[in-house]
Amino acid sequence: MNLTLKIWRQKNADAKGGMETYKVENISPDSSFLEMLDILNDQLINEGKEPVAFDHDCREGICGMCSLQINGQPHGPGRGITTCQLHMRKFRDGDTIYIEPFRAKAFPVIKDLVVDRTSFDRIQHAGGYISVNTSGNTQDANAIPIEKHNADKAFDAATCIGCGACVAACKNASAMLFTSAKVSQFALLPQGRVEATERVLNMVKQMDLEGFGNCSNTGACELECPKGISLENIARMNREYLKASVK
Ligand code: SF4
Ligand code: FES
Repeated sequence: MNLTLKIWRQKNADAKGGMETYKVENISPDSSFLEMLDILNDQLINEGKEPVAFDHDCREGICGMCSLQINGQPHGPGRGITTCQLHMRKFRDGDTIYIEPFRAKAFPVIKDLVVDRTSFDRIQHAGGYISVNTSGNTQDANAIPIEKHNADKAFDAATCIGCGACVAACKNASAMLFTSAKVSQFALLPQGRVEATERVLNMVKQMDLEGFGNCSNTGACELECPKGISLENIARMNREYLKASVK
């Protein structure tokens, strides 16, 4: 496949960025999107030019590092996949592909396609944990019976990989789907009830402090989420928040 790539280039956080055009040739439809970018970068390095900076780690849909807005869609075309799981067969020979970083005030661009998502880490630090007594009297987690329905829902919420596609998809750059997944995974389990009140209040407060917008109620986040995190988590977080606020 021969392709034209329009890629966002930005030297650093303070520089003014812009789209640059590149050509890549003889790309196999079986290569992944990131392999295609590797080929472009080899080409740029051989020409003595600066390679395109982009985030990646596991390249198997687990770590949540890859984060590209491809033709205006977070993680590109296809449902339930991350950028690293996207293959070039989703495109056609001769296509022009637009590649940009995830856009949100709370995700400032560091360089080219790399954004700073430490705002997500700070939301996690605000309450995404449980306290366990490890003094030697630790109770076996399996000794606490948990209703299967709740265990399944908690597990589903815990599959959030913190990629930020929900934020990039939302016209308000809202982090409600991410934060609600992190709140839900504990709210549904007895181990998470101990700190439930402070957790939801602190995590929502941090989410607002970071500059994320409010839920737009459009459901774009759920549609673009590679892990299928459901909007019902946002409803659960709102209920948790209301309960905590009147306590
Ligand atoms: S909710 Fe989905 S889109 Fe948002 S950070 Fe988690 S995995 Fe990514
Ligand atoms: S590189 Fe880890 S999810 Fe894409």
